[in-house]
Amino acid sequence: MEGQKPKIFSGIQPSGELTLGSYMGALRSWKALQDDYDCVYCIVDMHTITVRQKPAELRRRAMEQLAQYLAIGLDPERCILFIQSHVPQHAELAWILGCYTQFGELGRMTQFKQKSQQHAENITAGLFTYPVLMAADILLYQADLVPVGADQKQHVELCRDIAQRFNGIYGDTFTLPEPFIPKLGARIMSLSNPENKMSKSEPEGCVFLMDRPEDIRRKFKRAVTDSETEVRFDPAGKPGVSNLLTIYCSATGKEIPEAEAEFAGQGYGAFKAAVGDAVVELLAPIRQEASRLLGDKAYLEGIYRRGAEAAQCQARKTLSKVQRKVGFLPR
Ligand code: TYM
Repeated sequence: MEGQKPKIFSGIQPSGELTLGSYMGALRSWKALQDDYDCVYCIVDMHTITVRQKPAELRRRAMEQLAQYLAIGLDPERCILFIQSHVPQHAELAWILGCYTQFGELGRMTQFKQKSQQHAENITAGLFTYPVLMAADILLYQADLVPVGADQKQHVELCRDIAQRFNGIYGDTFTLPEPFIPKLGARIMSLSNPENKMSKSEPEGCVFLMDRPEDIRRKFKRAVTDSETEVRFDPAGKPGVSNLLTIYCSATGKEIPEAEAEFAGQGYGAFKAAVGDAVVELLAPIRQEASRLLGDKAYLEGIYRRGAEAAQCQARKTLSKVQRKVGFLPR
């Protein structure tokens, strides 16, 4: 599988169900890029325990997430799909990179600031060093490109800074990665509070890939808009309507002006119903396929085992190079 193609790495935490936001911001790009890149896609369970988890639920969600990766169209013959904790090199490289990362850099990370507010009773060292582990994920595979939503851009930039610093000291070691952020759908907003990012922590404004069609339609019907009637794209002035237009276009492949024209003079009721229908049409086959795959645990286990082996093969190469460069004695 390793060839001349440029490399991609990305991951999602099994910290909850996959959302429409993670689909439009990241997963859709993952699928589109698998033809032209060597792709490594991960279920980052080690990142997930930076916030307290129920062990049985974490296990279940990791398995469900793998089924959903496959159901959206990631092809295990073309990309490596694996679980982060199965490849110990992630933690080993993270330790080393942590020694090349400044305390101040980590303190400036927006996600750390937000999460330490949300979990004020449990601000762990893991939560603080989270971006270092993420840098290790990316750099182990010498990724050129990291497809993520807009909220992860800062972490990818920090990864690049760490890589550059390391290369500056020891000579070329790591490929410098770039974030790949889609033009449309990089930041899907909450349906109930369109000033905020759509997130699993606010379930009523969040659509999950595994939601039933009736729940999806209900969430869109209740979506917050504004006191006007015009379907027009204006994120600052009309955040709710603009978010719905983004979701509609991301789901159907239409352009924003085309969608504005389609709903001209129709009022918000018909518009919201049409967005709901478009999302149902997008997600129903994914839900069906993921449910089918979850019935075949042995198949899923085979995929993640094979993925871990292939990933480890690449990760070992980078790690031993790094260990040599920093001066560890070979065994
Ligand atoms: P996480 O687990 O939050 O993964 C979600 C992915 O989906 C994107 N996303 C969104 N995009 C648009 N609109 C939204 N409302 C929305 N919500 C989520 C996120 O940007 C992300 O791409 N730190 C990462 C996980 C990670 C990782 C990595 C990513 C760990 N190691 C290495 C890339 C490379 C995270 O918390 O994503």
